[in-house]
Amino acid sequence: MENIIKDIDIINVEEAESCDFKVTAEENTGKTKRLYIESYGCQMNFSDSEIVASIMKETGFDTTSDFNNADVILLNTCSIREKAENTVRKRLSQFNQIKKAKPELMIGVLGCMAERLKEKLLEEEKLVDLVVGPDAYRDLPNLVGQAEDGHKGVNTFLSREETYADISPVRLNSNGVSAMISIMRGCDNMCSFCVVPFTRGRERSRDPYSITKEAKELFDHGYREVTLLGQNVDSYKWSPEENNKARLNKKEAEIAEVVYFSDLLEMVAKVDPKLRIRFSTSHPKDITDKVLETMKEYDNICKYIHLPVQSGNSRILEMMNRTYDREWYLNRIQKIREILGEDCGISSDMIAGFCTETEEEHQDTLSMMDIVQYDFSYMFYYSERPGTLAEKKYKDDIPLAVKKRRLQEIIDKQGQLSLIRHKREVGQIQEVLVEGLSKRSKDQLKAKNSANKVVIIPKGNLNIGDYVTVKITDCTSATLFGEIVN
Ligand code: SAH
Ligand code: SF4
Ligand code: F3S
Repeated sequence: MENIIKDIDIINVEEAESCDFKVTAEENTGKTKRLYIESYGCQMNFSDSEIVASIMKETGFDTTSDFNNADVILLNTCSIREKAENTVRKRLSQFNQIKKAKPELMIGVLGCMAERLKEKLLEEEKLVDLVVGPDAYRDLPNLVGQAEDGHKGVNTFLSREETYADISPVRLNSNGVSAMISIMRGCDNMCSFCVVPFTRGRERSRDPYSITKEAKELFDHGYREVTLLGQNVDSYKWSPEENNKARLNKKEAEIAEVVYFSDLLEMVAKVDPKLRIRFSTSHPKDITDKVLETMKEYDNICKYIHLPVQSGNSRILEMMNRTYDREWYLNRIQKIREILGEDCGISSDMIAGFCTETEEEHQDTLSMMDIVQYDFSYMFYYSERPGTLAEKKYKDDIPLAVKKRRLQEIIDKQGQLSLIRHKREVGQIQEVLVEGLSKRSKDQLKAKNSANKVVIIPKGNLNIGDYVTVKITDCTSATLFGEIVN
């Protein structure tokens, strides 16, 4: 899920572990107050910030990209690794300086850190006025009102139902071409290293009709790509019985039955053949052949799967409670190749130095990478999180220097593999979607191919949002270069 460090060459451990964030765009729809949001962590969080902006707009806030102009500053935080939390704490102390000069400024912490630390955060970070967990954003106007009256506001209630299905997000993170659509919330897996089930609560799936409606609206507004988001999209399951059937119109109620992820993919793919569909994240234990067949059937479902392995060793996978082993994972990869072919992009997440991991077991992760030939990976060293199963059961016994060295080996391996995978695309004719201007030169555009790779192409007469056929002419380990084919 953590796609924030995707488009750059990762060369070393420090960069891979650096904690990037996104800031709200400048918006001016005539509201009287200004909201500044900084978002950390995964795409889910970035998507949630768009929902928060929408809720805050209703109570009179436009967003600003400059915190000096803000009446309210919100940090939408991540707890996945210790480093992510430390970054937010440092940021809070910077905002403390501003608040000293401007006491009426309101500062709130949202997201996973809010959920993990609850009231404790108010004690630890005295400047914070609001602490709001991921399922309580509808309460924000009320909490902001309370804080304006001098009462600190906390709501970290986790819901079994909340999906924010009816809220139309303010597209803060968008280039006008691709947008995120949240399709489910929470996670019911209990990977032993992971804090997400505690910060995001129980898994619940969003009404599929609200999802297709959102996709259609995006398409009508010029968007050409949607990414369906969830911690574990393959366990998407929605049935009208479990939900409120009365919300459906008559026609929908008649056709409504249990909707699984493959069905949802098909429903969104049918919105328009010119709307590209991506999704993230898939769990190796849940991704079905039916999903792969559906991907094959629809040209507009991108041929790219993020399938985090975490470790290549079965004993470590068992300790991680991933509920699959090396063989199972490799079998899934084989199926992907069988059904979707060699060109399908595959990426992964990897954790180096999990509790008790031996050198041989670390080698299994490297050999797994060689076998699968990942296009890219998000790579981390293990960071023990309070309250998780691993923290309770196992000793975090791999020295930091060893974790870092193993991570560096994984990063180096991925660099080699990315280059190999890119080189094999040189010479190919591909359809790409133009997403924006290239950072390198104003005469070039940044486009993406189906396998989620950045392709730099000459500007020509192209516009953002156009599909264009290109021939891949060159590459680095991070980028492909193409020329337009007429
Ligand atoms: N739901 C997704 C992952 C979400 S968290 C999935 O199951 O694949 C994103 C990634 O952060 C994880 O895949 C894992 O590689 C990493 N991660 C999670 N907890 C971690 C921890 N305690 N230490 C280091 N990396 C961690
Ligand atoms: Fe965390 Fe595992 Fe859930 Fe992913 S599937 S969010 S790693 S518990
Ligand atoms: Fe995402 Fe971080 Fe929470 S990865 S779900 S924001 S802990």
